[in-house]
Amino acid sequence: MPSIVIVGAQWGDEGKGKITDLLAEKADVVVRFQGGNNAGHTIVRGDDVYKLHLMPSGILYPGKLCVIGNGVVIDPKVITEEIVELTRRGIDVSGLRISANAHLIMPYHKLLDQEGEARLGKLQIGTTKRGIGPCYADKASRLGIRVQDLLDEKILRQKIYAALEPKRQLLRPYERDPIIDLQTMVQEYRRFGQRLAPYIADAPPIIWDALDRGCLVVFEGAQGTLLDIDHGTYPFVTSSNPVAGSATIGAGVGPKDINEVWGVTKAYATRVGSGPFASELDDDLGNRLREAGGEYGTTTGRPRRTGWLDLVALRYAARVNGLTALAITKLDVLSGIGPLQLATRYRGPEGAEFDAFPYHQSILHKATAVYEQLPGWDDDITGVRRFEDLPAAAQDYLRYVENFVGVPLALVGVGPARDQVIEIDRSAPLQRAA
Ligand code: IMP
Repeated sequence: MPSIVIVGAQWGDEGKGKITDLLAEKADVVVRFQGGNNAGHTIVRGDDVYKLHLMPSGILYPGKLCVIGNGVVIDPKVITEEIVELTRRGIDVSGLRISANAHLIMPYHKLLDQEGEARLGKLQIGTTKRGIGPCYADKASRLGIRVQDLLDEKILRQKIYAALEPKRQLLRPYERDPIIDLQTMVQEYRRFGQRLAPYIADAPPIIWDALDRGCLVVFEGAQGTLLDIDHGTYPFVTSSNPVAGSATIGAGVGPKDINEVWGVTKAYATRVGSGPFASELDDDLGNRLREAGGEYGTTTGRPRRTGWLDLVALRYAARVNGLTALAITKLDVLSGIGPLQLATRYRGPEGAEFDAFPYHQSILHKATAVYEQLPGWDDDITGVRRFEDLPAAAQDYLRYVENFVGVPLALVGVGPARDQVIEIDRSAPLQRAA
Protein backbone atom coordinates (compact mmCIF):
# COMPACT_ATOMS: atom_id res chain seq x y z
CA MET A 1 0.00 0.00 0.00
CA PRO A 2 2.64 2.55 -0.98
CA SER A 3 0.45 5.62 -1.52
CA ILE A 4 -2.94 6.81 -0.35
CA VAL A 5 -4.75 10.01 -1.21
CA ILE A 6 -7.16 11.22 1.44
CA VAL A 7 -9.91 13.51 0.21
CA GLY A 8 -12.99 15.16 1.62
CA ALA A 9 -16.09 13.58 0.09
CA GLN A 10 -18.42 16.43 1.13
CA TRP A 11 -17.97 20.19 1.63
CA GLY A 12 -14.84 20.02 3.79
CA ASP A 13 -14.56 19.65 7.56
CA GLU A 14 -15.15 15.89 7.31
CA GLY A 15 -12.48 15.06 9.85
CA LYS A 16 -9.71 14.34 7.35
CA GLY A 17 -7.12 15.43 9.91
CA LYS A 18 -8.01 12.56 12.22
CA ILE A 19 -7.89 9.97 9.43
CA THR A 20 -4.61 11.37 8.08
CA ASP A 21 -3.21 11.37 11.59
CA LEU A 22 -4.05 7.68 11.96
CA LEU A 23 -2.48 6.75 8.62
CA ALA A 24 0.43 9.14 9.12
CA GLU A 25 1.73 7.04 11.97
CA LYS A 26 2.65 4.32 9.47
CA ALA A 27 3.55 6.72 6.65
CA ASP A 28 7.04 7.77 5.69
CA VAL A 29 5.92 11.00 4.05
CA VAL A 30 2.76 13.08 4.40
CA VAL A 31 2.07 15.58 1.62
CA ARG A 32 -0.40 18.42 1.36
CA PHE A 33 -1.22 19.18 -2.26
CA GLN A 34 -3.79 22.00 -2.52
CA GLY A 35 -5.63 24.71 -0.62
CA GLY A 36 -4.12 26.92 2.01
CA ASN A 37 -4.95 28.18 5.46
CA ASN A 38 -8.63 28.21 4.53
CA ALA A 39 -8.34 24.65 5.85
CA GLY A 40 -8.28 23.74 9.50
CA HIS A 41 -7.42 20.33 10.91
CA THR A 42 -8.10 19.52 14.52
CA ILE A 43 -6.04 16.68 15.95
CA VAL A 44 -6.66 15.42 19.47
CA ARG A 45 -3.81 13.69 21.32
CA GLY A 46 -4.80 12.79 24.87
CA ASP A 47 -5.57 16.12 26.53
CA ASP A 48 -3.79 18.08 23.81
CA VAL A 49 -5.71 19.64 20.95
CA TYR A 50 -3.80 20.87 17.91
CA LYS A 51 -5.46 23.13 15.40
CA LEU A 52 -3.40 23.19 12.23
CA HIS A 53 -4.06 25.17 9.08
CA LEU A 54 -1.10 24.64 6.78
CA MET A 55 1.06 22.08 8.47
CA PRO A 56 0.49 18.51 7.22
CA SER A 57 -1.19 16.38 9.89
CA GLY A 58 1.80 14.03 10.17
CA ILE A 59 3.89 16.71 11.86
CA LEU A 60 2.98 15.40 15.31
CA TYR A 61 5.22 12.35 14.70
CA PRO A 62 8.80 13.37 15.53
CA GLY A 63 10.91 13.98 12.43
CA LYS A 64 8.24 12.64 10.02
CA LEU A 65 8.76 14.03 6.53
CA CYS A 66 5.87 16.44 5.96
CA VAL A 67 5.76 18.12 2.60
CA ILE A 68 3.78 21.20 1.63
CA GLY A 69 3.50 20.68 -2.12
CA ASN A 70 3.60 23.14 -5.00
CA GLY A 71 -0.20 23.09 -5.27
CA VAL A 72 -0.67 24.68 -1.84
CA VAL A 73 -0.96 28.45 -1.41
CA ILE A 74 1.04 29.51 1.62
CA ASP A 75 0.58 32.46 3.91
CA PRO A 76 4.16 32.67 5.23
CA LYS A 77 3.00 34.38 8.42
CA VAL A 78 0.68 31.47 9.21
CA ILE A 79 3.21 28.71 8.56
CA THR A 80 5.85 30.62 10.55
CA GLU A 81 3.44 30.93 13.47
CA GLU A 82 2.58 27.22 13.27
CA ILE A 83 6.28 26.32 13.36
CA VAL A 84 6.84 28.58 16.40
CA GLU A 85 3.76 27.33 18.25
CA LEU A 86 4.42 23.62 17.63
CA THR A 87 8.06 24.04 18.65
CA ARG A 88 6.94 25.83 21.82
CA ARG A 89 4.74 22.81 22.60
CA GLY A 90 7.69 20.48 22.20
CA ILE A 91 6.89 19.14 18.72
CA ASP A 92 9.88 18.45 16.47
CA VAL A 93 9.16 20.09 13.11
CA SER A 94 12.49 19.27 11.50
CA GLY A 95 10.69 17.00 8.99
CA LEU A 96 8.87 19.91 7.38
CA ARG A 97 9.65 20.58 3.70
CA ILE A 98 8.06 23.45 1.79
CA SER A 99 8.02 23.29 -1.99
CA ALA A 100 10.02 26.12 -3.51
CA ASN A 101 7.35 26.27 -6.23
CA ALA A 102 4.36 26.79 -3.95
CA HIS A 103 2.69 30.17 -4.29
CA LEU A 104 2.53 32.76 -1.53
CA ILE A 105 -0.49 34.57 -0.21
CA MET A 106 0.35 38.27 -0.15
CA PRO A 107 -1.30 41.01 1.94
CA TYR A 108 -3.08 42.31 -1.17
CA HIS A 109 -4.65 38.89 -1.81
CA LYS A 110 -6.41 39.10 1.54
CA LEU A 111 -7.63 42.64 0.83
CA LEU A 112 -8.87 41.59 -2.62
CA ASP A 113 -10.68 38.60 -1.11
CA GLN A 114 -12.52 40.89 1.34
CA GLU A 115 -13.25 43.49 -1.33
CA GLY A 116 -14.47 40.85 -3.79
CA GLU A 117 -16.90 39.45 -1.25
CA ALA A 118 -18.16 42.91 -0.31
CA ARG A 119 -18.78 43.73 -3.97
CA LEU A 120 -20.75 40.53 -4.52
CA GLY A 121 -23.20 41.58 -1.80
CA LYS A 122 -26.03 39.06 -1.62
CA LEU A 123 -24.23 36.80 -4.11
CA GLN A 124 -21.17 36.41 -1.94
CA ILE A 125 -19.48 33.03 -1.68
CA GLY A 126 -18.76 33.24 2.03
CA THR A 127 -15.01 32.73 1.58
CA THR A 128 -12.69 32.39 4.53
CA LYS A 129 -11.16 35.75 3.47
CA ARG A 130 -7.68 34.28 3.67
CA GLY A 131 -6.78 35.45 0.16
CA ILE A 132 -7.04 31.98 -1.37
CA GLY A 133 -8.97 32.91 -4.54
CA PRO A 134 -6.88 35.98 -5.47
CA CYS A 135 -3.67 34.01 -4.87
CA TYR A 136 -4.70 31.18 -7.21
CA ALA A 137 -5.91 33.83 -9.71
CA ASP A 138 -2.43 35.42 -9.71
CA LYS A 139 -0.90 31.97 -10.15
CA ALA A 140 -3.03 31.40 -13.26
CA SER A 141 -2.22 34.93 -14.50
CA ARG A 142 1.49 34.20 -14.10
CA LEU A 143 1.73 37.02 -11.56
CA GLY A 144 2.21 34.85 -8.51
CA ILE A 145 5.00 35.14 -5.96
CA ARG A 146 6.53 31.76 -5.15
CA VAL A 147 8.31 30.47 -2.08
CA GLN A 148 11.67 30.52 -3.90
CA ASP A 149 11.23 34.25 -4.55
CA LEU A 150 11.57 34.83 -0.80
CA LEU A 151 15.24 33.98 -1.11
CA ASP A 152 16.17 36.74 -3.55
CA GLU A 153 15.32 40.33 -2.62
CA LYS A 154 15.72 41.72 -6.13
CA ILE A 155 13.44 39.15 -7.72
CA LEU A 156 10.97 39.47 -4.86
CA ARG A 157 10.72 43.24 -5.32
CA GLN A 158 10.33 42.98 -9.11
CA LYS A 159 7.64 40.35 -8.86
CA ILE A 160 5.63 42.11 -6.16
CA TYR A 161 5.80 45.30 -8.21
CA ALA A 162 4.58 43.50 -11.34
CA ALA A 163 1.78 41.78 -9.43
CA LEU A 164 0.63 45.00 -7.75
CA GLU A 165 0.47 47.19 -10.85
CA PRO A 166 -2.65 45.65 -12.45
CA LYS A 167 -4.39 45.77 -9.08
CA ARG A 168 -3.88 49.46 -8.32
CA GLN A 169 -7.41 50.37 -9.36
CA LEU A 170 -8.99 47.68 -7.20
CA LEU A 171 -6.74 48.48 -4.26
CA ARG A 172 -7.36 52.24 -4.40
CA PRO A 173 -9.22 52.27 -1.04
CA TYR A 174 -6.03 50.86 0.56
CA GLU A 175 -3.60 53.11 -1.31
CA ARG A 176 -2.10 54.50 1.87
CA ASP A 177 -2.27 51.30 3.86
CA PRO A 178 1.33 50.42 4.86
CA ILE A 179 0.35 46.78 4.59
CA ILE A 180 0.64 46.95 0.80
CA ASP A 181 3.54 49.37 0.61
CA LEU A 182 6.10 47.76 -1.72
CA GLN A 183 9.09 48.33 0.54
CA THR A 184 7.24 47.12 3.66
CA MET A 185 6.13 43.95 1.87
CA VAL A 186 9.59 43.21 0.50
CA GLN A 187 11.14 43.57 3.96
CA GLU A 188 8.45 41.56 5.70
CA TYR A 189 8.56 38.72 3.16
CA ARG A 190 12.37 38.68 3.21
CA ARG A 191 12.16 38.13 6.97
CA PHE A 192 9.75 35.24 6.37
CA GLY A 193 12.21 33.89 3.82
CA GLN A 194 14.98 33.87 6.42
CA ARG A 195 12.76 32.05 8.92
CA LEU A 196 11.53 29.51 6.38
CA ALA A 197 14.79 28.95 4.47
CA PRO A 198 15.73 25.75 6.34
CA TYR A 199 12.47 24.15 5.24
CA ILE A 200 12.40 25.24 1.58
CA ALA A 201 13.07 22.33 -0.75
CA ASP A 202 12.70 20.81 -4.19
CA ALA A 203 9.72 18.75 -3.03
CA PRO A 204 8.93 16.20 -5.78
CA PRO A 205 12.26 14.28 -5.55
CA ILE A 206 11.61 13.73 -1.83
CA ILE A 207 8.29 12.10 -2.70
CA TRP A 208 9.69 10.17 -5.68
CA ASP A 209 12.43 8.77 -3.51
CA ALA A 210 9.93 7.52 -0.92
CA LEU A 211 7.72 6.00 -3.64
CA ASP A 212 10.68 4.35 -5.34
CA ARG A 213 11.68 2.76 -2.04
CA GLY A 214 8.14 1.38 -1.60
CA CYS A 215 7.48 3.60 1.43
CA LEU A 216 3.99 4.69 2.39
CA VAL A 217 3.18 8.19 1.17
CA VAL A 218 -0.04 9.83 2.34
CA PHE A 219 -1.40 12.70 0.27
CA GLU A 220 -3.58 14.84 2.48
CA GLY A 221 -6.38 16.75 0.79
CA ALA A 222 -8.00 19.90 2.15
CA GLN A 223 -11.62 21.09 1.72
CA GLY A 224 -13.89 18.64 -0.08
CA THR A 225 -15.10 17.36 -3.45
CA LEU A 226 -18.16 19.61 -3.57
CA LEU A 227 -15.95 22.66 -3.05
CA ASP A 228 -13.81 21.69 -6.06
CA ILE A 229 -13.52 24.54 -8.57
CA ASP A 230 -14.27 22.17 -11.47
CA HIS A 231 -16.45 19.47 -9.94
CA GLY A 232 -18.12 21.23 -7.02
CA THR A 233 -21.11 23.53 -6.72
CA TYR A 234 -19.56 26.37 -8.74
CA PRO A 235 -19.36 29.31 -8.06
CA PHE A 236 -19.82 28.40 -4.39
CA VAL A 237 -16.51 26.59 -4.24
CA THR A 238 -12.91 27.17 -3.31
CA SER A 239 -10.30 28.10 -5.92
CA SER A 240 -8.38 24.83 -5.99
CA ASN A 241 -9.11 21.19 -6.83
CA PRO A 242 -9.67 19.17 -3.66
CA VAL A 243 -10.38 16.01 -5.70
CA ALA A 244 -7.93 13.11 -5.73
CA GLY A 245 -6.56 13.76 -9.23
CA SER A 246 -5.19 17.04 -7.97
CA ALA A 247 -2.72 15.21 -5.72
CA THR A 248 -0.61 14.43 -8.78
CA ILE A 249 -0.38 18.05 -9.89
CA GLY A 250 -0.06 19.56 -6.45
CA ALA A 251 2.71 17.19 -5.40
CA GLY A 252 4.47 16.41 -8.66
CA VAL A 253 3.75 12.69 -9.11
CA GLY A 254 2.00 10.69 -11.82
CA PRO A 255 -1.44 9.03 -11.69
CA LYS A 256 0.25 5.63 -11.53
CA ASP A 257 1.92 6.63 -8.28
CA ILE A 258 -1.45 6.61 -6.53
CA ASN A 259 -2.60 3.24 -5.18
CA GLU A 260 -5.57 4.09 -3.00
CA VAL A 261 -8.02 6.94 -2.58
CA TRP A 262 -9.85 7.24 0.70
CA GLY A 263 -12.87 9.50 0.90
CA VAL A 264 -13.78 10.95 4.26
CA THR A 265 -17.36 11.84 5.09
CA LYS A 266 -19.19 12.67 8.26
CA ALA A 267 -22.14 10.49 9.21
CA TYR A 268 -24.25 13.59 8.44
CA ALA A 269 -23.46 16.68 6.39
CA THR A 270 -22.19 20.20 7.00
CA ARG A 271 -21.30 23.13 4.82
CA VAL A 272 -19.74 26.53 5.54
CA GLY A 273 -20.47 29.53 3.37
CA SER A 274 -23.11 29.93 0.69
CA GLY A 275 -24.30 27.52 -1.97
CA PRO A 276 -26.66 24.63 -2.59
CA PHE A 277 -27.16 22.06 0.15
CA ALA A 278 -30.15 19.86 -0.72
CA SER A 279 -30.28 17.95 2.57
CA GLU A 280 -29.89 21.00 4.82
CA LEU A 281 -31.74 21.04 8.14
CA ASP A 282 -32.65 24.62 8.74
CA ASP A 283 -34.50 23.86 11.98
CA ASP A 284 -34.16 22.72 15.60
CA LEU A 285 -32.79 19.35 14.56
CA GLY A 286 -30.12 21.13 12.53
CA ASN A 287 -29.24 23.17 15.63
CA ARG A 288 -29.07 19.98 17.70
CA LEU A 289 -26.68 18.42 15.20
CA ARG A 290 -24.55 21.59 15.23
CA GLU A 291 -24.26 21.57 19.01
CA ALA A 292 -23.78 17.79 19.31
CA GLY A 293 -21.09 17.80 16.62
CA GLY A 294 -19.41 21.06 17.67
CA GLU A 295 -19.96 22.32 14.16
CA TYR A 296 -18.16 25.64 14.27
CA GLY A 297 -15.34 26.40 11.83
CA THR A 298 -11.75 25.67 12.92
CA THR A 299 -10.54 28.53 10.75
CA THR A 300 -13.21 31.20 11.02
CA GLY A 301 -15.34 30.04 13.98
CA ARG A 302 -18.44 30.40 11.79
CA PRO A 303 -21.39 28.12 12.66
CA ARG A 304 -21.61 25.42 10.01
CA ARG A 305 -24.83 24.66 8.17
CA THR A 306 -25.96 21.13 9.03
CA GLY A 307 -28.06 18.45 7.35
CA TRP A 308 -28.62 14.76 6.68
CA LEU A 309 -26.04 12.66 4.90
CA ASP A 310 -26.45 13.21 1.18
CA LEU A 311 -25.84 9.90 -0.60
CA VAL A 312 -26.45 11.39 -4.05
CA ALA A 313 -23.50 13.73 -3.50
CA LEU A 314 -21.46 11.01 -1.80
CA ARG A 315 -21.88 8.59 -4.69
CA TYR A 316 -20.85 11.40 -7.04
CA ALA A 317 -17.77 12.06 -4.88
CA ALA A 318 -16.94 8.34 -4.97
CA ARG A 319 -16.92 8.43 -8.77
CA VAL A 320 -15.12 11.74 -9.28
CA ASN A 321 -12.34 10.72 -6.91
CA GLY A 322 -12.24 7.02 -7.78
CA LEU A 323 -12.61 6.14 -4.11
CA THR A 324 -11.25 2.79 -3.01
CA ALA A 325 -12.39 3.18 0.61
CA LEU A 326 -14.70 5.27 2.75
CA ALA A 327 -14.00 6.64 6.21
CA ILE A 328 -17.06 7.82 8.11
CA THR A 329 -16.47 10.19 11.01
CA LYS A 330 -18.63 11.37 13.91
CA LEU A 331 -21.11 8.48 13.91
CA ASP A 332 -21.48 9.09 17.66
CA VAL A 333 -23.06 12.48 16.96
CA LEU A 334 -26.14 10.71 15.55
CA SER A 335 -26.84 8.87 18.84
CA GLY A 336 -30.24 9.96 20.12
CA ILE A 337 -31.06 11.91 16.93
CA GLY A 338 -33.16 9.20 15.19
CA PRO A 339 -35.14 8.36 13.17
CA LEU A 340 -32.44 9.13 10.63
CA GLN A 341 -32.86 10.31 7.06
CA LEU A 342 -30.52 9.59 4.18
CA ALA A 343 -30.84 11.63 0.99
CA THR A 344 -31.07 9.11 -1.86
CA ARG A 345 -32.53 11.28 -4.65
CA TYR A 346 -32.99 14.95 -5.51
CA ARG A 347 -36.25 16.59 -6.50
CA GLY A 348 -35.76 19.42 -9.00
CA PRO A 349 -37.75 22.68 -9.08
CA GLU A 350 -40.24 21.21 -11.57
CA GLY A 351 -40.83 18.08 -9.51
CA ALA A 352 -38.63 15.68 -11.51
CA GLU A 353 -36.49 13.31 -9.45
CA PHE A 354 -32.78 12.70 -10.03
CA ASP A 355 -30.65 9.77 -8.98
CA ALA A 356 -27.42 11.36 -10.15
CA PHE A 357 -25.84 14.59 -8.96
CA PRO A 358 -27.27 17.25 -11.33
CA TYR A 359 -24.72 19.17 -13.39
CA HIS A 360 -27.06 22.05 -14.20
CA GLN A 361 -27.09 24.96 -11.79
CA SER A 362 -30.79 25.72 -12.22
CA ILE A 363 -31.58 22.23 -10.92
CA LEU A 364 -28.76 21.88 -8.44
CA HIS A 365 -29.33 25.23 -6.77
CA LYS A 366 -33.04 24.56 -6.23
CA ALA A 367 -33.10 20.81 -5.63
CA THR A 368 -34.43 19.36 -2.40
CA ALA A 369 -33.51 15.96 -1.06
CA VAL A 370 -35.78 12.90 -1.13
CA TYR A 371 -35.07 10.67 1.86
CA GLU A 372 -34.95 7.08 2.95
CA GLN A 373 -35.74 6.82 6.66
CA LEU A 374 -33.79 4.48 8.93
CA PRO A 375 -34.24 3.86 12.64
CA GLY A 376 -31.84 5.61 14.99
CA TRP A 377 -30.20 4.44 18.21
CA ASP A 378 -29.87 5.98 21.66
CA ASP A 379 -26.84 4.12 23.02
CA ASP A 380 -23.58 5.87 23.69
CA ILE A 381 -21.24 4.37 21.07
CA THR A 382 -18.11 6.35 21.94
CA GLY A 383 -16.55 3.31 23.62
CA VAL A 384 -17.28 0.85 20.80
CA ARG A 385 -14.23 -0.43 18.90
CA ARG A 386 -15.68 -3.30 16.84
CA PHE A 387 -18.36 -3.07 14.15
CA GLU A 388 -20.32 -5.98 15.61
CA ASP A 389 -20.55 -4.19 18.99
CA LEU A 390 -22.44 -1.26 17.49
CA PRO A 391 -26.21 -1.13 18.02
CA ALA A 392 -28.04 -2.95 15.19
CA ALA A 393 -29.47 0.33 13.87
CA ALA A 394 -26.00 1.88 13.63
CA GLN A 395 -24.72 -1.21 11.79
CA ASP A 396 -27.67 -0.98 9.39
CA TYR A 397 -27.00 2.71 8.82
CA LEU A 398 -23.37 2.00 7.85
CA ARG A 399 -24.35 -0.96 5.67
CA TYR A 400 -26.89 1.17 3.87
CA VAL A 401 -24.29 3.84 3.12
CA GLU A 402 -21.70 1.33 1.97
CA ASN A 403 -24.20 -0.43 -0.29
CA PHE A 404 -25.56 2.75 -1.78
CA VAL A 405 -22.19 4.31 -2.50
CA GLY A 406 -20.58 1.06 -3.60
CA VAL A 407 -17.30 1.71 -1.80
CA PRO A 408 -16.11 -0.40 1.15
CA LEU A 409 -15.92 1.18 4.56
CA ALA A 410 -12.46 1.19 6.11
CA LEU A 411 -12.85 3.31 9.25
CA VAL A 412 -15.65 4.66 11.40
CA GLY A 413 -15.04 7.46 13.89
CA VAL A 414 -17.00 7.35 17.15
CA GLY A 415 -15.41 10.27 18.99
CA PRO A 416 -12.70 12.90 18.64
CA ALA A 417 -9.82 11.00 20.25
CA ARG A 418 -7.33 9.08 18.18
CA ASP A 419 -8.39 5.69 19.46
CA GLN A 420 -12.14 6.35 19.09
CA VAL A 421 -12.26 4.54 15.81
CA ILE A 422 -13.59 1.25 14.45
CA GLU A 423 -11.38 -0.40 11.86
CA ILE A 424 -13.26 -2.48 9.33
CA ASP A 425 -11.83 -5.41 7.43
CA ARG A 426 -12.36 -4.44 3.82
CA SER A 427 -11.89 -7.99 2.60
CA ALA A 428 -15.30 -8.79 4.15
CA PRO A 429 -17.59 -5.99 2.99
CA LEU A 430 -20.46 -5.08 5.28
CA GLN A 431 -23.12 -5.88 2.71
CA ARG A 432 -22.02 -9.51 2.86
CA ALA A 433 -22.14 -9.53 6.64
CA ALA A 434 -25.76 -8.36 6.58
P1 IMP B 1 -12.17 30.17 0.13
O1 IMP B 1 -11.54 28.84 -0.02
O2 IMP B 1 -11.70 30.92 1.35
O3 IMP B 1 -12.06 30.99 -1.13
O4 IMP B 1 -13.74 29.96 0.34
C1 IMP B 1 -14.57 29.41 -0.68
C2 IMP B 1 -15.62 28.49 -0.08
O5 IMP B 1 -14.98 27.33 0.42
C3 IMP B 1 -16.40 29.08 1.10
O6 IMP B 1 -17.72 28.58 1.07
C4 IMP B 1 -15.67 28.53 2.30
O7 IMP B 1 -16.49 28.47 3.45
C5 IMP B 1 -15.31 27.15 1.80
N1 IMP B 1 -14.13 26.58 2.44
C6 IMP B 1 -12.85 26.86 2.20
N2 IMP B 1 -12.04 26.10 2.96
C7 IMP B 1 -12.83 25.31 3.68
C8 IMP B 1 -12.57 24.25 4.62
O8 IMP B 1 -11.43 23.90 4.94
N3 IMP B 1 -13.68 23.66 5.15
C9 IMP B 1 -14.93 23.98 4.79
N4 IMP B 1 -15.22 24.94 3.91
C10 IMP B 1 -14.18 25.60 3.36
